[in-house]
Amino acid sequence: MKIAISSDHGGNRLRHEIMDLLSELGFAYEDFGPDSDESVDYPDFAAPVAQGVASGEFDRGILICGTGIGMSIAANKVKGVRCALVHDVFSAKATREHNNSNILAMGERVIGPGLAREIASTWLGTSFEGGRHERRVAKLTELEG
Ligand code: RB5
Repeated sequence: MKIAISSDHGGNRLRHEIMDLLSELGFAYEDFGPDSDESVDYPDFAAPVAQGVASGEFDRGILICGTGIGMSIAANKVKGVRCALVHDVFSAKATREHNNSNILAMGERVIGPGLAREIASTWLGTSFEGGRHERRVAKLTELEG
């Protein structure tokens, strides 16, 4: 599984924590920055991850900003993206099983690194259930026009 990851300045520290986790778990990932703590605009950093996942270049994406909200809004503008903003382990599992989410967004200013690690590893390790959820996810794709 190939993963794309980025953040804005508000998610820089947590992005590094999650990249450490990906290495520990043996996942291949590409880091889309940013390279410093300088203030940046989150849509600029959401775009390469969202486009990379939508195009199939990456299997999954992880986006982090201060709240996770800006990143998730930006990613969900890209056709083919189902980005879930998650701050608890139950939702991390459910959004993979039910929504087949392909991008995870989290907020560094909302949760601590320990919980973020649990969320990311649960989200990465949970499969889509299919069945009735297949029909619902297809309807999400229909809404994209
Ligand atoms: C940056 O200050 C902050 O607005 C951003 O990280 C994010 O929370 C936006 O949704």
